[in-house]
Amino acid sequence: MHFFEYKDRQLYCEGILIREIAEKVGTPFYLYSYHTLVRHFTVFDDAFKGIPHLVCYSAKANSNLALLRLFINLGGGVDVVSGGELYRALKGGAVPQKIVFSGVGKREDEIEYALKTGILMFNVESSQELQVINEVASRIGKKAAIAIRVNPDIDPKTHPYISTGLKQNKFGIDILRAPMAYRLASQLPNLKIVGIDCHIGSQLVEVEPIIEALRRLKQLVENLRKDGMEIQYLDLGGGLGITYEDEEPPHPVEYASTILEELQGFGCTLILEPGRVIVGNAGVLVSKVLYTKENEEKRFVIVDAGMNDLVRPSYYGSYHQILPVKEETREEIVADVVGPICESSDFLAKGRKMAILHSGELIAVMSAGAYGFSMSTNYNSRPRIAEVLVRDDQMFVIRKREGYEDLIRGEKIPDFLIRS
Ligand code: LLP
Repeated sequence: MHFFEYKDRQLYCEGILIREIAEKVGTPFYLYSYHTLVRHFTVFDDAFKGIPHLVCYSAKANSNLALLRLFINLGGGVDVVSGGELYRALKGGAVPQKIVFSGVGKREDEIEYALKTGILMFNVESSQELQVINEVASRIGKKAAIAIRVNPDIDPKTHPYISTGLKQNKFGIDILRAPMAYRLASQLPNLKIVGIDCHIGSQLVEVEPIIEALRRLKQLVENLRKDGMEIQYLDLGGGLGITYEDEEPPHPVEYASTILEELQGFGCTLILEPGRVIVGNAGVLVSKVLYTKENEEKRFVIVDAGMNDLVRPSYYGSYHQILPVKEETREEIVADVVGPICESSDFLAKGRKMAILHSGELIAVMSAGAYGFSMSTNYNSRPRIAEVLVRDDQMFVIRKREGYEDLIRGEKIPDFLIRS
């Protein structure tokens, strides 16, 4: 069952024509399907039914309040990596005891905010961070629940920019040094050890590296338990990949069943931090073709969405399928689909074999629900675009398009410049 589908040669999101949404909100905009979001979360969550677990949706993938609320309504927790994401999670109605706080560079004010909120645990990434959390906790008279993020030194076989579990990556504490960090934590009076954590990378298309990481973590937990430490939560992070082009990642049920096999009877509550697998294919970016042009070498399709709206193709060379909103028989061409930004790296597709597109028509850039809006910027002073959620035949603007006023909010010309 797909929720972005052609009917009568027109692309729909659930029960609404994408063209009609574009007429109401203008272009470009992000568009999410409610039923797809619900299905993805539920399938993932249900797949782990066999053991005590908590799905902490990774807010960085898409942190719109409406989406956070939707997953929270389904019983989800939230994985946050900044004070800002914690604020969003709370505004979305998250239960503090279902929030985990990851990230390699937490500031004191963020730590204090999280302590006052009463989150489930900090995933700590260095010994110095342990010390700082202990200090902040003691200053405000709290005890901080912590897990140590272990770097298991495993190649997740994904894009180097989104590999996080190798020695050369900045993330976590080297697995060989982790026992030392746990010992330190056990001596700090305002810390309470509750768990262990890892996250080896994103857009993973194989389960083996995850299972290998899990085995290494289990071994460490057994040793820690021998030393009298109680490890209640085992957080495996996120990372399960999706199909953008022809990747064949494991289905969440397959992913879950191999993990469950490893963890049956291990006596930990499993925490998962999925992002992309929940929202990636539940959203598209809708844009309008402004112009087309060609020279002896190339054809360009110039659209009104740029790398500031969706940076993944420019940044990682990522593939996103591009579909015309109106389906018709078309000539095949090879073209670059580019945005209006003044950078040669501003493209949504490069050398793409595709159906010819004409000026004025709408396109849908597929699989854009994850790391789309959340990585967007105001570069070239472009207001950030609208986000729309569709449920059956109803549409909801869940973030209105920014205006020019938003671009200069907070800026100030100092008096001396006005007077001179
Ligand atoms: N947990 C931690 C600690 C993470 O660092 C991440 C992602 C996740 C969970 C969620 O991972 P997911 O399930 O979405 O793979 N901007 C890149 C992806 C960066 C991922 C960063 N960390 C992209 O557009 O592909």
